[in-house]
Amino acid sequence: MGKIVKKQRPVNLDLRTINQPVSAIASILHRISGIITFIAVGILLWLLGMSLSSQEGFQHASEIMTGFFAKFILWGILTALGYHICGGIRHVLMDFGFLEESLATGKTSAKLAIVIAVILSILAGVLIW
Ligand code: HEM
Repeated sequence: MGKIVKKQRPVNLDLRTINQPVSAIASILHRISGIITFIAVGILLWLLGMSLSSQEGFQHASEIMTGFFAKFILWGILTALGYHICGGIRHVLMDFGFLEESLATGKTSAKLAIVIAVILSILAGVLIW
């Protein structure tokens, strides 16, 4: 089989040089935000456990959360969660057939999910700082 295929075909599998459609960007962001959210569950449970352990534990957890780095991590977590929920709702709407399965609707809903997530991310920043 392989011998029939012309060897001189233009092949480009370098993802960095391919102009990605917005739906592809929305898709990879959904996977990345899902993984970040998964890791966040561990971090947040650790913080909750500390804050509930004792009065000192609560004080310690509060102090940790005053630092810029900790706030930045929390902002990242909320941003990832916000995007994951927007992308997730988009997926559910598509699965239930509420969104037309066309390229135009796919592009529009992907853009909308990203725009809403950016707004939520800014709001999360305002809430934290
Ligand atoms: C603790 C909270 C959550 C975690 C850790 C989490 C994590 C993940 C991960 C790792 C994936 C797989 C992504 C992939 O294979 O590309 C995923 C997919 C998905 N998540 Fe979440 N998720 C969470 C909450 C949510 C919420 C609240 C929604 C609802 C809006 C949601 C909707 C979805 C959907 C619809 C998919 C499948 C997307 C697809 O078919 O490509 N998730 N999630």
